[in-house]
Amino acid sequence: MACLTATAQTNRSPRMTEELTDDWLFSRDMTSWQTVSIPHDWAISGPFDKKWDLQVVAIEQNGEKEPTEKSGRSGSLPWIGKGHYRRTFRVPSQYAHAELVFDGAMSEPTVYVNGKKAGYWAYGYNTFRVDVTPYINKDGSDNLLQVDLQNLEESSRWYPGAGIYRPVTLELTGESRLDRWGTYFRTLSISGNKADVEVTAKAIGTGAIEVSLLNDKGHVVAAAHNDLDNDGQACTTMEIDNPQLWSPEQPNLYRLRIQLMENGKTIDEIEEKVGIRTISVSREGGFQLNGVTRKFKGVCLHHDLGPLGAAINKTALIRQIKTMKEMGCDAIRTSHNMPSQMQMQICDSLGMMVMAESFDMWIYPKCKNGYARFFKEWSDRDIENLVLANRNHPAIVMWSIGNEIPEQGDKKGVDIINRLQGLCHKLDPSRPVTQGMDRIDNALQSGFAQAMEVPGMNYRLHKYQKAYETLKHGFLLGSETTSTVSSRGVYKFPVETTDNSRYSSWSPNYDPKAVRGADGQCSGYDVEYCSWSNLPDDDWRYQDDMSWVIGEFVWTGYDYLGEPTPYDEYWPSRSSYFGICDLAGLPKDRYYLYRSHWNKQQHTIHLLPHWSWGTSKKQKGNRIGQVTPVYCYTDYPEGELFVNGKSQGRIKKLKDSRLDRYRLRWNNVKYEPGELKVIVYDEMGKNCGEQVMKTAGKPARLQLDVWTQHSNLSPLSSLLSPLNADGNDLAFVTVSLVDKDGTFVPDAQDQLTFEVSGAGTFRAVCNGDATSLEPFTQPTMKLFSGQLVVVVQAARQKGDLVLKVNDAERKLTETIIIPVK
Ligand code: GAL
Repeated sequence: MACLTATAQTNRSPRMTEELTDDWLFSRDMTSWQTVSIPHDWAISGPFDKKWDLQVVAIEQNGEKEPTEKSGRSGSLPWIGKGHYRRTFRVPSQYAHAELVFDGAMSEPTVYVNGKKAGYWAYGYNTFRVDVTPYINKDGSDNLLQVDLQNLEESSRWYPGAGIYRPVTLELTGESRLDRWGTYFRTLSISGNKADVEVTAKAIGTGAIEVSLLNDKGHVVAAAHNDLDNDGQACTTMEIDNPQLWSPEQPNLYRLRIQLMENGKTIDEIEEKVGIRTISVSREGGFQLNGVTRKFKGVCLHHDLGPLGAAINKTALIRQIKTMKEMGCDAIRTSHNMPSQMQMQICDSLGMMVMAESFDMWIYPKCKNGYARFFKEWSDRDIENLVLANRNHPAIVMWSIGNEIPEQGDKKGVDIINRLQGLCHKLDPSRPVTQGMDRIDNALQSGFAQAMEVPGMNYRLHKYQKAYETLKHGFLLGSETTSTVSSRGVYKFPVETTDNSRYSSWSPNYDPKAVRGADGQCSGYDVEYCSWSNLPDDDWRYQDDMSWVIGEFVWTGYDYLGEPTPYDEYWPSRSSYFGICDLAGLPKDRYYLYRSHWNKQQHTIHLLPHWSWGTSKKQKGNRIGQVTPVYCYTDYPEGELFVNGKSQGRIKKLKDSRLDRYRLRWNNVKYEPGELKVIVYDEMGKNCGEQVMKTAGKPARLQLDVWTQHSNLSPLSSLLSPLNADGNDLAFVTVSLVDKDGTFVPDAQDQLTFEVSGAGTFRAVCNGDATSLEPFTQPTMKLFSGQLVVVVQAARQKGDLVLKVNDAERKLTETIIIPVK
């Protein structure tokens, strides 16, 4: 359809949207109430205790046959039980229709308005709408909203969070109105410098629909006018000249404005950000975005935000996505459930592709009280809400209908695929559908894998070839890969590549004989994984050498609360070791391994381990004279290593080696205090740069590095940019102990305390230690491997936020002032 001029707007839409953020009352027992703001996670303050979620189970997914005691599996935080929220809201009398939109409440939310049950949703991860019109007072007076939640024990394989952890929005309209989820924007084709897009709008009422598409300068680039049909729908196609396409590299967005018109008047209006882009999967092209083949450089993310728990926060989500992008990552998988709207908006605008997932189980339960209780009755409704609420986000490139579903070997499973995949296609014909399969032999035999539009395989690289040959698709996806485990800044000797590492009796001081004993950590050399999984290097051989593998989603981008494998039976482990970044969001060494391979815009030169293994032989735990392997993670093919100026050899990456293809490794270096240096060379043998690491002297001061949402992409940027005075914005302050020359002291465990004054408050602290039982919400914590992250929150008033960090034992204090504007 040719572009029409947008109808001049004479009167504004009567729609009113209000986020219900403040002045909620919360109670666990309906007796004592406390005032809270939403998003809220009632369990995140702890205290950590294994009693909260202790289980005696066999984790079938990990190949276990006998039940054993498992602690920390869902975070050891008090998320199980009931919770109640109350708040009032008003509906001015000019609005005839009122609706509440919940973006997620954990879990089984029952919604009451003025004492009457107005709605219920079973799944804690989905967004749902409640029409509250019949229950509200028509005279504009206060309405009482109450939301009751309950979390059953053994209902999750990880920390689910607890409470109304995503926003609640009140949407007020007239009787005639647009249906927000009835709006559907999709790109039909792009050729030359033209794009064809289709827009569908749905209304309750009669009249006509005006559609306009505005570019980033606010100019209307296409518009159309259509009468509503008998179903209250209007569908139109529009041609856009010189479209600015959406991609992770250039996330161009347009504003889609939809107006419901009656007798020339705007009755209702909604606006959404949309993107023009095409996606396809095929034998010939693999996965294509805008007609260009690319492989997913993806990570899986659970929904929690470490020390903030499940309560979402825009700045924390921006930090996650920016940190992953800086690594070269271009896609996330929202494992194993529905994303929040806020996260999807951020992915749209920052440029991050998304596989939006739905379920971790269908009919057969993976844990006693999991979603299997609801699947039969609710799965269609859950898929419907997932797709309708999210289908206009350009970032989403694929739907996932499940993760490691036990029904893989079952023909009934094929029927379920046909139903759920068919429903996705019906509601959104523009995106392919996948799921992560872990029992590929069964799935190939039952026809389960054949039925999937995009066959996704979790781990089991040795089965890729067989799956590729058996399936007719001509491509397959690494829907979940790697599960390498490591702890930031912790290194175990001798370095051993192993799929079964556990260090299990506590040794606070380094003792060479006890190194294999016990601190509940994993080695930072990135050579430890699980019996079902592998190393990053193993995946890359397939990603790089097999044209038919269309990319991967690494388990995981960040550590998360719960699932402390390989320490499922070891207390006090209570969070994961899989992350490329730790629970505080600090990059582990592995971050630089991925960056060296994925980030094609910037070079990476990163040495490990640290070089502070003692300065004299008298020191307990020193490594002087002992073999201390050195790795360099770099995109350059060659490097020479020096210890105090003495060459340790100039080496090249080796294509046919498991661990030397993507890493430069010097395995026989003997530690001497002083200076470790690497010089890297390109393919032509040209010296391209170096990295130097020094042995730390005596701790002399605390170094504070501030990250705010306006900082640049670097995860550890020290650029101090102001916070928004909105009561929500956060600054993430990385605290490191350094010597007088600024050299990092990598084994420091000092107990620090924090004081926040002025225009903000202390929100949380995290050191990334999966075995720490210190609560996140108290202003004190030990350094872990020399670092931790303090999260401070802006006030609503402008001014200066002052954070003071104290190290009482060493009598060190550091203060930072963050402007709040
Ligand atoms: C996978 C599973 C994930 C996580 C992971 C740990 O099998 O899909 O949820 O449990 O293993 O390696």
